[in-house]
Amino acid sequence: MGFPETNHFDTTVVRSKIMGPNTLKLCEELMDEAAVPAGSVVLDLDSGCGISSAMLAREYGLITYAADLWSDPSQNMRFLESLGLTNREVIPMKADATALPFAHGFFDAVVSVDSYNYFGRDPEYLGTCLLPLVKSGGLILLAIPGMVRDCHDDLPACLLASWTPELLDYMHDMDWWRAIFEQTEGVKIV
Ligand SMILES: C[S@@+](CC[C@H](N)C(=O)[O-])C[C@H]1O[C@@H](n2cnc3c(N)ncnc32)[C@H](O)[C@@H]1O
Repeated sequence: MGFPETNHFDTTVVRSKIMGPNTLKLCEELMDEAAVPAGSVVLDLDSGCGISSAMLAREYGLITYAADLWSDPSQNMRFLESLGLTNREVIPMKADATALPFAHGFFDAVVSVDSYNYFGRDPEYLGTCLLPLVKSGGLILLAIPGMVRDCHDDLPACLLASWTPELLDYMHDMDWWRAIFEQTEGVKIV
């Protein structure tokens, strides 16, 4: 696919703000799959340096809460301002995904790129911490790093050369995630 929204961002800026894979491309793929109307209130869960939040607000017209644990919300605010965004459009904040400070039913949608595997492997997480914050009929759009097929029972030497089994436990295939999500009532996986 082409990435018309991603291409609106300067490549040097993108390179300086991503923390792994190209978060803009992943974010754009998620948004292509979903119909989140402009003006919706979304949570960019683990927004890192804020560039995906900039895309959600600027390119899709979403009111975006940019929540992250490790990054500095003041630094992210300055970055977002440099892209012409205001605190009416993006609200950067420090927050732990396991204790998000929002009312139940606050969000129309949640977008999360390259982070759900840190905390979402706990089958209780979705139903306890995240789903209650999303309106009935809302969307949770996840891009999770993983494996095409789980191989934890027989980890290949090439992976063990640079990863430990504990680190590799953050990576799973889609069937594994489906089994995690299916443990939460009220979730429709598409
Ligand atoms: C690999 S980075 C991805 C950041 C961003 N989504 C991106 O794609 O550039 C993982 C992010 O997850 C966040 N994170 C990890 N555990 C978290 C938690 N418990 N609560 C909130 N954020 C968390 C970190 O702050 C970090 O910014």
